[in-house]
Amino acid sequence: MDTSIIELPAFEDKRGNLVFLESLRHIPFLVKRLYYIYGVPEGESRAAHGHKILKQFFIPIAGSFTITLDDAQEKKEYRMDSPNKGLYVGPGLWRDLTSFAVDTVCLVLASEYYSEDDYIRDYARFKEYKSES
Ligand code: TYD
Repeated sequence: MDTSIIELPAFEDKRGNLVFLESLRHIPFLVKRLYYIYGVPEGESRAAHGHKILKQFFIPIAGSFTITLDDAQEKKEYRMDSPNKGLYVGPGLWRDLTSFAVDTVCLVLASEYYSEDDYIRDYARFKEYKSES
């Protein structure tokens, strides 16, 4: 599965913490877009889709959530709870974001501009797409 947890450089001192990342140095793509998800009510889930070419990097800036990845063969689950550890997610993976703690902020960096054409939002269609490719 084209995915990995990436630990980011963190600077901690008495003033607090600072974490940074640079495209192509810490994450394996150039960032064209970012978005963030917050205010997720208890019990709600996000995503539930796959992407054909998009690469993404998920960071729990605050709080925690679970990402489940699925390549149509196996599933992997990651509890995201550290602001200096993100999850790289390559193309061709179904993702579900669940179990958001209160006040969670999920930052997502993306390799492409927004394009609805790159989404597969139906799981049966995703399985079909994976069996064709
Ligand atoms: P949606 O795909 O439902 O969010 P999630 O992946 O968190 O479940 O996106 C919600 C809406 O926002 C949907 O109408 C598409 C729109 N959107 C954009 O216009 N640009 C973007 O970069 C993203 C990620 C979503």
